[in-house]
Amino acid sequence: MATPETRVVSVQRLNEGPGSRSLAEWWADEKKLQTPEAKAIEEAAQILRSSDIPVAFPTETVYGLGADATRSASVQGIYRAKQRPSDNPLIVHVDSLDMLNRLLNPTPTPRTPSSPSSTKTPRISIPEIYEPLLERFWPGPLTIILPNPSGSELAPEVTSNLTTFGVRMPSSALARLLIHATDRPLAAPSANASTKPSPTTAQHVYHDLHDRIELILDGGRSGVGVESTVVDGLCQPPAILRPGGIGIEELRTCPGWENVIVAYNDGTLDVKEIPRAPGMKYRHYSPKARVVLFEADSHFAGVVRHVQKDLQDTAIGAHTVGIIRTRNWPQGLGLASADVLASTMRPVSSAIENLHSFPVPVHETGSPSSRTKMAFDYHLGSETGAIAHGLFAALRALDELDVDVIYVEGISDRDGDLAAAVMNRLRKAAGAEMKV
Ligand code: TXA
Ligand code: MG
Repeated sequence: MATPETRVVSVQRLNEGPGSRSLAEWWADEKKLQTPEAKAIEEAAQILRSSDIPVAFPTETVYGLGADATRSASVQGIYRAKQRPSDNPLIVHVDSLDMLNRLLNPTPTPRTPSSPSSTKTPRISIPEIYEPLLERFWPGPLTIILPNPSGSELAPEVTSNLTTFGVRMPSSALARLLIHATDRPLAAPSANASTKPSPTTAQHVYHDLHDRIELILDGGRSGVGVESTVVDGLCQPPAILRPGGIGIEELRTCPGWENVIVAYNDGTLDVKEIPRAPGMKYRHYSPKARVVLFEADSHFAGVVRHVQKDLQDTAIGAHTVGIIRTRNWPQGLGLASADVLASTMRPVSSAIENLHSFPVPVHETGSPSSRTKMAFDYHLGSETGAIAHGLFAALRALDELDVDVIYVEGISDRDGDLAAAVMNRLRKAAGAEMKV
């Protein structure tokens, strides 16, 4: 089926949120005023309710590719658009605890007159262990795993036939408004093509999916920049299945979560162990370029030697290279002296402040003369928040420039909070991890 041309519609103004109003009051006001943003949300809701083509929308973590979580055909549309393997379950997004409680307690199908009517099933509530987490982190970048009730309204494609489902309430008011207007829980993975870096702008989504979906709601740049943390409190001890916007130290301050274990591969687990979040086994977030990740405590001179060797080695064929700097590497990675850099560094585009190009003279092995190769320097900043926020965009920007290799300055997993999430994403992107 042909998909009409993809439209990107700005709903940025709605980021301001409902203020002191409830979501319902806010939505009623916007609809009454017939604002352009309300029309866009209304149209998105209409597509979500009735079509099988997913809609991309912003959340505080990354852009999501949403579908009505209760309709199989709609959810299949996500797998189709992303070309995502179907054994990878999706996160369900709700606008309120009410909506979640309705999911946990589906209306039973009417009984036939002959069946006993007094067998009332007790109400299912959210397991107690999650209470302190929800109080503290919801709405926000935290996904919890819950048992999928019998008679569940969720399409089986959402859970990939697991007995559980993952759910979160986004802190993005815009995302909650869309769910509210649709009046359905929305299944939404990140809105990138499978294996590409997660999108943090509407333009990233457009780049990956423009011939595959109809509508992208543009809410500006996602604030957190990495996906939600996924936790499983149904087992003892509770476990983190995917690191993300909420760090382990923060989780450990919650009653019942003091001993939470890490159940994703952070480099300390045996690689043969099967990840418990099915999504964690796939190569993700990968740019076209080869990504070489240097561990945080790598010896700087060793890093420079490694890069120089790649540039000189004709077999490796690195003609243009990208450098993603975080806390310590100097501008230009020591590939040219500071005064040469000062006169040769150029901004690549006015849209990305921290991205510069500079020429590197290289003596290739076996060749008598030197030739000039191109390097791009992308500085994410030294704060963990800034690094998480800009990481995916940096990988994408360097990919657009068609670099052959991207060298990344890693940070320590032990820097808590988002640092582990950043390193987890980078390890998945990297073809090689170096400690020099
Ligand atoms: O921040 C986010 O969570 C973004 C935005 C759009 O909200 N969404 C997102 O969804 O990252 P997705 O579908 O790309 O990630 C789902 C992750 C995968 O690692 C998957 O394996 C895990 O959650 N997951 C989902 N349901 C699960 C379940 N029942 N049991 C274990 N892991 C589950
Ligand atoms: Mg994803």
